[in-house]
Amino acid sequence: MHAPIGIFDSGVGGTSIWKEVVKLLPNEDTLYLADSANAPYGEKSKEAILQLSIKNTEYLLEQGCKLIIVACNTATTNAIDHLRANYPVPFIGIEPAIKPAALQTKTKKVGVLATKGTLSSSLFHSTSKLFAEGITVIEQEGKGLVELIEAGKTRSPEMRKLLMGFLQPMLEQRIDCLVLGCTHYPYLIPVLKELLPNNVTIIDSGEAVARQTKAVLQAHQLLSIDGKDTMHRFYTNKGTEVLKNLVNGLNVQVSYLNF
Ligand code: DGL
Repeated sequence: MHAPIGIFDSGVGGTSIWKEVVKLLPNEDTLYLADSANAPYGEKSKEAILQLSIKNTEYLLEQGCKLIIVACNTATTNAIDHLRANYPVPFIGIEPAIKPAALQTKTKKVGVLATKGTLSSSLFHSTSKLFAEGITVIEQEGKGLVELIEAGKTRSPEMRKLLMGFLQPMLEQRIDCLVLGCTHYPYLIPVLKELLPNNVTIIDSGEAVARQTKAVLQAHQLLSIDGKDTMHRFYTNKGTEVLKNLVNGLNVQVSYLNF
């Protein structure tokens, strides 16, 4: 079916998911909403996160999207049940990848870096309980990271300092897996690799989200067959520069939109 896949995030972070989606599904059009004016979602109440998720969803549906990817752990863990129950398209969400980390860890200690909104959600707690039996999960709120990434300061000295403060207690407890529980954080992987010892594996779920998107499109017979003139539209309600730097390329349009 020739209609775009809708994607939203509190800002630019969900583009880490978008990249995996276009790699796996090159025939699909996409429409991405970066709600950067309201970032970070992770510091907001569950009700506020829900209302913003509803607003983003309704805009994407008005634009004719056939499926919506909630490319934000914070919005998924706080709002996806409501979205699935109230809107007629399939939704794909993203949650911290506790299960693969629990399967890989040898020290039985796993670190999770995520927002306050994700770590305090009941969905995160039930997933941890289900998949991390016998494993110590060390939760760390990444306070301040999203703001720096939104400002394009991914490799700044402030970023390194913040990250070191978050990683140190986890390393002292001998984690050997670090779960990136926020879609902004894959942009920190180059810096994280410099700061972490070699025995710590970084785990994120972008590729798994793309595979799930493909499977759901297939199951609903929604895949685009004809990939001619594929178009990727990005709307942000703040400055366009950081977003443009992350997604530049052919058939990519980045614009300001007051949504
Ligand atoms: N990318 C969002 C997530 O995955 C960002 C959170 C925020 O805005 O605080 O959780």
